[in-house]
Amino acid sequence: MAERRLAASAITKRKGAPFPVVTAYDTPFAGFAETAGIDVLLVGDSLGNNVLGHPGTTPVDLIDMERHGAAVVRGTHRAHVIVDMPFGAYEASNEHAVHSAVRLIKHTGGSSVKLEGGLSSAPRIAAIVGARIPVCGHIGVLPQTAGLTSGFGMKRRREALMEDARALEAAGAFAIVLEMVDRDVAAEITAALSIPTIGIGSGPMCDAQVLVLHDVLGMYANPPSFVRRFADLATVATDGLRAYAEAVRGQEFPPRD
Ligand code: KIV
Repeated sequence: MAERRLAASAITKRKGAPFPVVTAYDTPFAGFAETAGIDVLLVGDSLGNNVLGHPGTTPVDLIDMERHGAAVVRGTHRAHVIVDMPFGAYEASNEHAVHSAVRLIKHTGGSSVKLEGGLSSAPRIAAIVGARIPVCGHIGVLPQTAGLTSGFGMKRRREALMEDARALEAAGAFAIVLEMVDRDVAAEITAALSIPTIGIGSGPMCDAQVLVLHDVLGMYANPPSFVRRFADLATVATDGLRAYAEAVRGQEFPPRD
């Protein structure tokens, strides 16, 4: 029988006890993360820039998220898998948002969805939660529309951010990502909410931390300044591939005897 996955309600109960979250986009790396003891995985729409070669997250669509969300679910047994709702999947109406969330859960087997935005996204969250799908909120830098609106810089507007966070909690979000929110503001929001905050570039006082897999493992040059690399996979992968290429060119692989 399939093992039961960590529920959104269990994540809410972790308020105050730090926990790691990492993005995952495919089966093998999702498995590595779960084996490493990370039981909350985010199939971020950062899939666009980290895996699909897009300049950002805006071009990512529901089919991309369905395919990669399902791959992450197939690579794990117990982890809670949050699947990002891509740009264009929830803005038009509550009905459209519920339709997209149902599609994502149905086609991936994921545990919950995440969508971006503060006050203006609260009705969408309430509608999706009303359809019995758990939702994680996301405020601060909103990468899907940052290029069109408020940009990628640190967000410091205390009152507006607090209002956003409270609106998402009231709408029924089980947790909220704070992306590049000033660390003092993030600490205040964390203290004010009864649901966990999951910080990225928002300082040490958030309940949880999330990082992009490729940044944690050192797969790209020039990660954001708040990132710490815990491995150098770019070097390991390049060295391994160079050794393979040399072995073929030098007729050392496959062996001739
Ligand atoms: O898509 C993503 O990777 C995210 C994280 C930055 C939180 O939303």
